[in-house]
Amino acid sequence: MKPRSAVFFAFAFLFAASLANGQKFANDIHSYADPNAVRVTHVDLDWTVSFEQKTISGFATLSVDRTDKSAPLYLDTRDLKIFSAEASPDNRRYDLTRFELAPADKILGSKLTVQLPAGAKFVRIYYSSSPKASGLQWLSPEQTAGKQQPYMFSQAQAIHARSFIPLQDSPQVRVTYNARVRTPSDLLAVMSAEGNSRTNVRTGDYRFAMRHPIPPYLIAIGVGDIKFKSLGARTGVYTEPSMLAKSAWELADTEKMVRATERVYGPYRWGRYDLLVLPPSFPFGGMENPMLTFATPTILAGDRSLVSLVAHELAHSWSGNLVTNATWRDFWLNEGCTTYLERRIIEAVYGVKRREMEAMLGKRTLISELAEFGPADQILHVDLAGRDPDDGMTNVPYEKGALFLRFLEEKFGRARFDAFMKGYFNSHAFRSITTETFADYLDRNLLKRYPGKVSRGEADKWMNEPGLPSDAPDPQSDNFAKVAKEAKDYSNGALALNVIDKKAWTTQEWLQFLKSMPEGLSSAKMANLDEAFGLTKAGNSEISFQWLMMSIKTGYSPAEAKLEEFLTTIGRRKFVRPLFTELAKKDMNRACEIYRKARPGYHPITQSSIDPIVKCN
Ligand code: BES
Ligand code: ZN
Repeated sequence: MKPRSAVFFAFAFLFAASLANGQKFANDIHSYADPNAVRVTHVDLDWTVSFEQKTISGFATLSVDRTDKSAPLYLDTRDLKIFSAEASPDNRRYDLTRFELAPADKILGSKLTVQLPAGAKFVRIYYSSSPKASGLQWLSPEQTAGKQQPYMFSQAQAIHARSFIPLQDSPQVRVTYNARVRTPSDLLAVMSAEGNSRTNVRTGDYRFAMRHPIPPYLIAIGVGDIKFKSLGARTGVYTEPSMLAKSAWELADTEKMVRATERVYGPYRWGRYDLLVLPPSFPFGGMENPMLTFATPTILAGDRSLVSLVAHELAHSWSGNLVTNATWRDFWLNEGCTTYLERRIIEAVYGVKRREMEAMLGKRTLISELAEFGPADQILHVDLAGRDPDDGMTNVPYEKGALFLRFLEEKFGRARFDAFMKGYFNSHAFRSITTETFADYLDRNLLKRYPGKVSRGEADKWMNEPGLPSDAPDPQSDNFAKVAKEAKDYSNGALALNVIDKKAWTTQEWLQFLKSMPEGLSSAKMANLDEAFGLTKAGNSEISFQWLMMSIKTGYSPAEAKLEEFLTTIGRRKFVRPLFTELAKKDMNRACEIYRKARPGYHPITQSSIDPIVKCN
């Protein structure tokens, strides 16, 4: 045997040591943590929720696993007040320990350094959140449906958990968590964990446990006048009492969706799947908080036509929550896989025609977005250096990612591709991985296993190069072709509206019809459409949004009041950001006038997206 050098053994030892610890962590530029030295494995929260102060205060006890015994613990925080830090070898006796809070970075917040005495295995931090915490929204009673009680909810993705918990806020540092939450006694608290009450009994003192290791961005809480209604054996909905019946009707297919997903990708691993339907200021469509998806009330269309959002958030129970992006560069692994799974669920529950319509709408928004982006932002494995990870939430990770997976499905056939995806989820369950790890797994288990179908070069091109490959999948819908032709014929005067057979149109066809209109439709044609179809008074949020975008662009004044009403009652960023962008281009004064009224009701995340667009003087 060849003699080995001391250096070799040192490396071999270090490698074995890091493997024994489970994992070598990737570099995450959006966290101050150094989990290769010290890793938080469990978070125990003891919280008091104060609506008077708009704070969560109390303490967080972090269990730490120390690879480097001399390293301090570096935590992420944003706008937190830190009162004291303690350390313990046994979670019984705690002694004060030194800590230092660094000046805040605009994107990352403040690094908190906590000294760890020899033998310390637990760290306890007494703290309070700020009333302007980026991850929390505090609603006055007037901002709720019931108008009687205040409401509070969190939104931690991407890096907002640090604004209400001092922790290692990187998606590769998975933790289990427990929480004790004290609230006003007539309100209910719910979390992304076990312990949510289904009996509607309120005590003001609630306990929760998440027993699976999850990335910190999935820790979530909601507190308010919230009630539960069952939807199926494992599924149910929480929302304000006045929204409960409507929500339960709209979400009635949830249990079917869970079963459809399990049939292809293996068992649902999280126990229950419930939803929390929030007040309209919720800044996103949905958020896949484990066991308890958070959802905007704007999906309550009255006809179940917008429930692909449920399919999407449910799909994250496999792609995202079970197998997680290790850093925000790898966000497409979460969202691209999930958008692909979402469409598969829609196909299983509502049929292939609905799937194709939604896929076409998705591809079209992707293509128009790609046309506006520079090459760097067209890449799935995007470089986010110096940027807020929330900026990475474009259609590229979602729709280009989904097209990549559909491309693989088309090339390898559904049976093989399904087996591959199921194997991918099972073999990486409860782990956070990078794009490189995915690419390796893909190479070994699909590309090389069935050679001659897709080369590694082609796959790399999808993941690492701008644009859309010319052989990208092309969703097709006869319904959509017909509707697009009708829109075109109407716009050029060849067709009257009363001959269009719109009786069987679903929301998707209405969207296709409106999106197929040319940019500069005349006010007379806008008025005609409105008269024939009642578009200004439409109750469907997606249709209203589309119509209001057209109204701004064409200067259609009868929709002005509706626009103001929409912008001052709904805070979903996907809707309000484009509307304000268009309005600001046309009439900055009007944009400013509306934004003054709307801004106080918006979530901090929505506010910081609109502030740079609307310039008031
Ligand atoms: N996880 C996302 C929401 C998110 C992403 C929040 C990045 C913060 C940062 C969620 O699953 C999502 O994608 N929601 C979409 C709806 C979906 C149907 C495309 C949304 O909110 O629009
Ligand atoms: Zn998603």
